[in-house]
Amino acid sequence: MINSKPIAIVDSGLGGLPYLRWLQSHAPDEDLVYLADNGHFPYGERTTAELNGVLTEITEQLIQEIDPKLMVIACNTASVTSLSVLRERFPIPFVGVVPAVKPAAANSNRRRIGVLATNRTITDEYLENLIQDFASDCEVFRYGSPDIVDFVENRLINSTPAERTEAVQNAMNFFLDLNIDSLVIGCTHFIHLEKEIASALGEGVDIIDSREGVGRQVLRILDSFELHSLKREGKRGRQSTGRFFLSSPPKDEQNYRDFAEAFKLSYNGVLPSFSRQPVGEPG
Ligand code: DGL
Repeated sequence: MINSKPIAIVDSGLGGLPYLRWLQSHAPDEDLVYLADNGHFPYGERTTAELNGVLTEITEQLIQEIDPKLMVIACNTASVTSLSVLRERFPIPFVGVVPAVKPAAANSNRRRIGVLATNRTITDEYLENLIQDFASDCEVFRYGSPDIVDFVENRLINSTPAERTEAVQNAMNFFLDLNIDSLVIGCTHFIHLEKEIASALGEGVDIIDSREGVGRQVLRILDSFELHSLKREGKRGRQSTGRFFLSSPPKDEQNYRDFAEAFKLSYNGVLPSFSRQPVGEPG
């Protein structure tokens, strides 16, 4: 069966784009819709109760407006706090992005792992449980950085190499002293700075994120529920494009236009249902 409804990919801002890129190249026939929930950015400084409200609202709007067949919550913070709430409430499949603690533990020879994420994620019980389940024999060092989130969202596009190096420096100084051999990028925004992170930590530290695992999980769901938009045979090498939306009018629209263009997306401004009903504070 063919299902040509879109796949929705959601983050608080620009962090989910590297996950969208994986889908563009591995599922080129899919119609991809990206929503940057800039109206509630940054997620990492919100409570779980707030995020449950925010993610429920976003999902309702997306279902009403674009009727996705599947949603990717391309945000570690939103996934650790709210994925179970969304799955219970809405009838479509959800794929979440959670810190790649399991692959990092499998990769670590020294049994010393770093997790770089938002403040919400590093203190969340979900991360604690992941560590207990998959890395209980490792020392796991956590660092929360709202500053890097803010840099990526608001300053990355016009930044110099020196500014990018500087943006990750405090976090890297923390990990450099700890003799880790694997670093989990547990916030999707930080993937935009993976080169800077890797070069600050040097060759002895592997940088690990969830892109491959999440992308494969999307493909498995499309397979098992027969949700593919077209038969994939003979379509190799094509790169899908998609549409980019915001949840609120941005201060710096050019920033979002530039990112949309860099990821081969058409820039569509605020999702129409949000223009009719502006985003409010949750609760
Ligand atoms: N990109 C998000 C994550 O993966 C959160 C960034 C934010 O604080 O809004 O956790």
